[in-house]
Amino acid sequence: MDPFTLNECIEEIAEKRPDLAYINPDEVDIRFDERLGEGGFCTAYRCTWNGKLMCARVVDSNRQKTVVEEIATVEGLPSIAAKVFGYTSCSRPELKDDPGLMGNRGNGCHICLAVVTELCPHGNLEDFMEREGVPLSTEVKLDVMLQVAKGLEQLKDARIVWRDLKAKNLLVRSAHRGRAGEVVKVSIAFTDWGTAVKMPEEGKRRMTLHGPGTAGYIAPDTRGPIYDYRADMWAYLVWAASMCLKVECIVDCQLEEALADLKLEKKANATSAQDTKVNELLRKFQADGKVDEGCDDLYELVRDSAPWVDASMRWSPEEAEEELTTFRADHGLVIDASAVQKEAAAPEPERRFKASCLLLDREYGRRLEAEYEANKLLREQQQQQQQQQRQQQHHQQHQHQHQHQPTSTSAATEPAPPAVRNDTVEKDDNGESDWDEEAPTQPIAPTQPAPEMADEMDVVVEEEEEEETPRGEE
Ligand SMILES: Nc1ncnc2c1ncn2[C@@H]1O[C@H](COP(=O)(O)OP(=O)(O)O)[C@@H](O)[C@H]1O
Ligand SMILES: [Mg+2]
Repeated sequence: MDPFTLNECIEEIAEKRPDLAYINPDEVDIRFDERLGEGGFCTAYRCTWNGKLMCARVVDSNRQKTVVEEIATVEGLPSIAAKVFGYTSCSRPELKDDPGLMGNRGNGCHICLAVVTELCPHGNLEDFMEREGVPLSTEVKLDVMLQVAKGLEQLKDARIVWRDLKAKNLLVRSAHRGRAGEVVKVSIAFTDWGTAVKMPEEGKRRMTLHGPGTAGYIAPDTRGPIYDYRADMWAYLVWAASMCLKVECIVDCQLEEALADLKLEKKANATSAQDTKVNELLRKFQADGKVDEGCDDLYELVRDSAPWVDASMRWSPEEAEEELTTFRADHGLVIDASAVQKEAAAPEPERRFKASCLLLDREYGRRLEAEYEANKLLREQQQQQQQQQRQQQHHQQHQHQHQHQPTSTSAATEPAPPAVRNDTVEKDDNGESDWDEEAPTQPIAPTQPAPEMADEMDVVVEEEEEEETPRGEE
């Protein structure tokens, strides 16, 4: 049981992360009926702070210590990480099945620690894919794989080993849709740094956790006390291969579970026989028809282009990016930027709205839909009024031009062309779309210079006596 009281948590974070703001609880309005998702440690809700929609990760009261450690150790995350704005306390309505009933209680509420972060309105990638009901296109899947590979490159450059990459920890920052409401592009952010560690400036470090993370994503190389970013690349391969599977296989965690059964992290060494086993297992999934339509080639690329088990031969993030980029060009799988409908121009607002408001909480989605339907008439009337106004203006403008026309026929003036909508997607020098979506830009002004990494991170060589329990979500 977590021995930390809320005040101790807050004091600890303030001491270790003076760059992070403590937010006055009165300034944050957490909407407990608008749940975005749930993990093993937090439940994420929509909230407003500073006049903006955000996410509050409300920590289960028996998990506060772990989250304090997470916040305290993951300073200096790159832009792929969902941005953390600060922390606060909140009074959460008591839930019947709350695992943290040992926390502070009062008036039917729990007083909990909450971390205020950037809102990724579509929740995690797995839930998003499940809600869509139709598979994402191979183009979109490949693009997501490229984003995650680039994100891992950023982590590697920041010398951070994440140790918990999986679809539930990948958030959908934004989703763009085409004419028929189909997803044509998603932007990804990373969340959940409970098992992350910072490496020393040079070389490797002795790790405190052997085999951390979620079963199946745990790299064989975490068997020993010294491993590095390549452990995240094992998780990357598992996740990338599972992205090629049918969505029901992803939701059932079939590939992860089958790989977990091999218990590779418990074996003494990596061997080619282990690689053969992994390869056979992956082939069996394909033979059993579990690979999604159109994804076979991509699945085979992930499966075969480099050995998985031996960390020294595994894809690096850079190699993954290079191979996937070449594959994208060879197979003509570049996303068509012109297919994207921007908010104002989409022809099927109802459909898009319904899809986007389906947050995890289906109740909430239904309520939004009902509100949307109720307001539809009003919106139609407003649109008609606007159209009439535009017609009137156009008519007046035309009359005005007519009155000022010179008598000479050669100077006849054309009506002004309609204003050009400036909502086309920018292209970069390579002719590729510039999709990168910045994380919100209003960081908390640091009250003091950023501190060094927390204690654990400063230790270059750290001895580990006992293995800690893997931090899985379930
Ligand atoms: N910034 C966010 N925006 C939207 N949903 C989020 C956000 N952060 C977390 N979530 C949702 O909450 C879930 C749990 O969050 P996570 O950060 O993984 O915490 P845990 O440590 O409990 O696993 C995620 O899988 C996702 O569904
Ligand atoms: Mg998580």
